[in-house]
Amino acid sequence: MKDTNRVMQSYGRCCASPDFFDDFYTAFLASSPAVREKFVRTDMTAQKQLLRAGILNLVLFARGMPDTKLRALGKSHSREQLNIHPELYDLWIAALLKTIGQHDGDLEQQDLQAWRTVLNKGIDVIKAGY
Ligand code: HEM
Repeated sequence: MKDTNRVMQSYGRCCASPDFFDDFYTAFLASSPAVREKFVRTDMTAQKQLLRAGILNLVLFARGMPDTKLRALGKSHSREQLNIHPELYDLWIAALLKTIGQHDGDLEQQDLQAWRTVLNKGIDVIKAGY
């Protein structure tokens, strides 16, 4: 099966799991003080909705959609704006894969590799805007 199809199916199962986005942010915020510091003034309920769409954009880009939305994220996360250092994306990916492992009951080893490939492709575009 194609990586993007594996990821779409896995993401569907994760989104159907009620605490998926809560658990992602719990894991991500726990991963470093540098991450927590960035979200001190953030409405996390709104942030969870933004992330839901953000992950979908990464998947759609890997499926061939133009990079417009990811370049906009690259600009908002750049040093001039949110100043999200490129190394923080490794923590983001690690927290997401951990949370997927907890919420996708049908996850196969190949799905995790597919997630890595799909996420990295889009995250490279975001980081390039730093
Ligand atoms: C805001 C997505 C990685 C920190 C946002 C927003 C989206 C988003 C959609 C809403 C504002 C906008 O559209 O620019 C993503 C995606 C990521 C990612 C898809 C991974 C590929 C990160 C990382 C950090 C981070 C690694 C590091 C801490 C923030 C902060 C905000 C934000 C601080 C603003 C929150 C506020 O409004 O207070 N992100 N993000 N993001 N993101 Fe990210």
